[in-house]
Amino acid sequence: MSGSDRTASVDALVGAARLARDRALAPYSNFKVGAALLTSAGQIYLGCNIENATYGLTVCAERVALLKALSEGAREFSMIAVVADTNEPTPPCGSCRQLLWEYCADIDVVLANLVRVSARHHMRTLLPLPFDGRLLTDKSS
Ligand code: THU
Repeated sequence: MSGSDRTASVDALVGAARLARDRALAPYSNFKVGAALLTSAGQIYLGCNIENATYGLTVCAERVALLKALSEGAREFSMIAVVADTNEPTPPCGSCRQLLWEYCADIDVVLANLVRVSARHHMRTLLPLPFDGRLLTDKSS
């Protein structure tokens, strides 16, 4: 992929995440988040945060996008864009990082607000010492 192709796909993904954010169901926090997850094959899965009256059962935009993608059979991912209406970047929460690491590995993470990209990371830097499936079979005795 050339540099300009990559810029175009980042812009497209951020644009998609902004649209996803418009569908957020966030009446309790009024903090709307959108996510767009790009597969290695170029498909985009969208997610928005979905809150509910128990508060605790809220699902973040990133996890909605990921679970939609996995349930549709997608298995290989290259990038996720996360959009919120904040000056500071809104990075994925700890729970989302765990799932993104496990199912998407070291993807690019693009953080943006309604007008600009505010930060870019890799999953390995957002979750530097992960617990993952490899450890389940790594017995020391
Ligand atoms: N939220 C997300 O959807 N993604 C994030 O990266 C951070 C937080 C949601 C959860 C909740 O609905 C609201 O933002 C406030 O925490």
